[in-house]
Amino acid sequence: MKNKVNFIPKVTGDGSFTFFSSEFGEHFHSHYGARQESFGKFAIPTQLSIKAKQQHLKVLDICYGLGYNTAAALETIWRANPDCHVELIGLEINVSVAKNAIERQLFSYWNSEYTEILRQLAFTQQVNSARLTAKLLIGDARNLIKSLSNSGFYADAIFLDPFSPPQCPQLWTIEFIRQVAQYLHSNGLLATYSCAAAVRTALIAAGLAIASTPPIGRRTPGTVAGWELTSNAFLLLSQREREHLLTKAAIPYRDPQLKDSATTMIHRRIQEQNESQLETTSHWRKRWS
Ligand SMILES: C[S@@+](CC[C@H](N)C(=O)[O-])C[C@H]1O[C@@H](n2cnc3c(N)ncnc32)[C@H](O)[C@@H]1O
Repeated sequence: MKNKVNFIPKVTGDGSFTFFSSEFGEHFHSHYGARQESFGKFAIPTQLSIKAKQQHLKVLDICYGLGYNTAAALETIWRANPDCHVELIGLEINVSVAKNAIERQLFSYWNSEYTEILRQLAFTQQVNSARLTAKLLIGDARNLIKSLSNSGFYADAIFLDPFSPPQCPQLWTIEFIRQVAQYLHSNGLLATYSCAAAVRTALIAAGLAIASTPPIGRRTPGTVAGWELTSNAFLLLSQREREHLLTKAAIPYRDPQLKDSATTMIHRRIQEQNESQLETTSHWRKRWS
C-alpha cells in the first residue's frame, strides 16, 4: 500500500467531490453524488435521525476514506438532537486519503463544524468535545476490528463502505463480516451500498437479517442488516433478490485467517463456484429479464 499518494478530485453528480484510487481502480463514491450517497446509503438507512432520540450513540465507520459518511452521520444525528453525544470509531488503511481531502478543500458543501472535525480526525486521529468522542484507527480493518474486543463498543450504526467486492474482497468475506457483526448492538443497523449476492450471503451467515435500501442515483439498491428487522420501514427482499441468493453469485468470499491476499480469495471463490451445482447467475438474470 502506497500511503503517500496525491489523489485527483473529481466532481460528482450532486456537485460534491470524490477521489479516484489508482490502486483499486475505482472512485471512492458513486459518480451520481458522493455526498448524496453518504446520506442515502448510510446515514438514512441506519435510521440515525430516529436513534438520535437516545442521549448517546455509537457509530463504527469502516473504510473512513474522505470522511463523508462520518460527516453525514454527525449532521443527521445533531439535526435531530443537538444534545446527542456521539462516540465514533473510524477504520481506514490509508490516512493520506483523509488528509488529501482536507488539503484540497473538498468540503465546501459541509458546515465548517464538520470540516473541523474531519480535519482533526485526519491530522490527529482523534476528537474530544462536549458532544463527540471520535478516533480514526489506521491500519488494515481486518486487524483493527480485533482491537475492539473487550472495548464494550456496540455500535448503533455500522457503515461498511469498502471498494467493490472484486476489487477489495478482503472486507466482504464471511469471516470479516462475522467479526464486524460482533460489534453491532442488539438494536443496531449496519448499512452498505452493495447488493451483491456474495455480500448478502456473508451478512446472513453472520446471523443478520437483511433488507434492501432504496436505490440512490444508480439502479441497484443497497443493503441494511440488523439482528432483527421487524419494522415496516424495511424493504423486504423481492422474489428476484431472494432467488439471486440461490445462484453462484451468492457464493461468498472466504478468508479463514483474515490475512489472505485479494488474489487468493478471488481464486478460492472461482474454484468454489466451478464446483457448485447452484444456478448460474446468467441463467437467473435471463429468467428475470
Ligand atoms: C469506497 S472508499 C470509502 C469512502 C468513504 N467511506 C468516504 O465516505 O469517503 C474505500 C476506503 O477503504 C479503504 N481501504 C481499502 N482497504 C482497506 C483495508 N484493508 N482496511 C481499511 N481500509 C481499507 C481505502 O483506503 C478507501 O479509503
